[in-house]
Amino acid sequence: MKVLITGAAGFIGSSVAYKLLENGVTVVGVDNHNDYYDPSIKQARVDRLASHPNYTHCRIDLADRKALHDCFVAHKPNRVINLAAQAGVRYSIENPLAYIESNIVGFAHILEECRHNGVEHLVYASSSSVYGGNTAMPFSVHHNVDHPLSLYAASKKSNELMAHSYSHLYQLPTTGLRFFTVYGPWGRPDMSLFKFTKAILAGEPIQVFNHGKHRRDFTYIDDIVDGVIKVLARAPEPDPEWRSDQPDPGTSHAPWRIYNIGNNNPVELMDFISILEKRLDKKAVIEFLPLQPGDIPESKADVSDLEANFQYRPNTRVEDGIDRFVEWYRAYFNA
Ligand SMILES: NC(=O)c1ccc[n+]([C@@H]2O[C@H](COP(=O)([O-])OP(=O)(O)OC[C@H]3O[C@@H](n4cnc5c(N)ncnc54)[C@H](O)[C@@H]3O)[C@@H](O)[C@H]2O)c1
Repeated sequence: MKVLITGAAGFIGSSVAYKLLENGVTVVGVDNHNDYYDPSIKQARVDRLASHPNYTHCRIDLADRKALHDCFVAHKPNRVINLAAQAGVRYSIENPLAYIESNIVGFAHILEECRHNGVEHLVYASSSSVYGGNTAMPFSVHHNVDHPLSLYAASKKSNELMAHSYSHLYQLPTTGLRFFTVYGPWGRPDMSLFKFTKAILAGEPIQVFNHGKHRRDFTYIDDIVDGVIKVLARAPEPDPEWRSDQPDPGTSHAPWRIYNIGNNNPVELMDFISILEKRLDKKAVIEFLPLQPGDIPESKADVSDLEANFQYRPNTRVEDGIDRFVEWYRAYFNA
């Protein structure tokens, strides 16, 4: 099997690619190495992959249609995992157009290439942020999600809709995965665990939004990787129970599905910080700030569909996940 992974220099993409290579799969990685955060960590992730003989890297932008087309034609992947995106809720408030270019135009190019190159299954990243203004917990794929609070969330919901049209029109099997706050080794420098660790070790203050009242379904990277790989192995089929007069938002008459991948066990942000303080053996200096525009105060994933269809659910405790992150961070930065 040959799998093309976009966002292969990213946190989740490189972790999925690494595991697939370990499993004997041939991987083609695509990434533009943009400077949204320090590109040196992206290069280091790719260096780790490139030491494997079954890995090929294509440094291209999804918005560059010809380069992406040439990559698909040259490598002819059987399956595709789209993890490239402009990520981050807060950045989308300042730089909305970056999200249109990578997440909408880029994703449209991916759909076209999958359609024209006989790809058997496209798995792509969506996000818990699509739940937007919803407060019914846990968040379920069977709930309506038409009230995004940021353009980032709107771009992810748009991906789900765009994928549906291709699954319906061209019978392209597609599965969207709504990830819930992913953390762990090789993580993203713009996300809380990374930023908090760096600041606490440097004795600098950490900014804690919503006055620390956030509750998040923090999900460990290995659980995400296992989920993506399990889902990739089985393309969705049309759901015979789906009814057009009572349309269920989570399934379809087309080969299209959406799943949540989250820990189903939210943790208070202040508890998360105190576990980190213990692991670092150092107290944080905390600057409390209000809820930021675009942020959702709470997330909890209903993972019953994932469990029913793949006999799988994330289960890493945050204590263990933070331990493994700190161990990696100290080794990587020699800190
Ligand atoms: N990390 C999380 O908590 C989380 C939560 C929900 C959803 N997601 C989604 O999961 C996916 C992976 O996230 P991540 O945390 O690994 O982010 P990341 O930023 O580390 O990885 C994304 C990668 O995509 C690349 N990229 C961006 N735009 C591109 C373009 N136009 N062409 C080619 N490459 C491009 C970037 O250089 C980066 O290496 C993203 O779609 C993200 O929106 C992540």
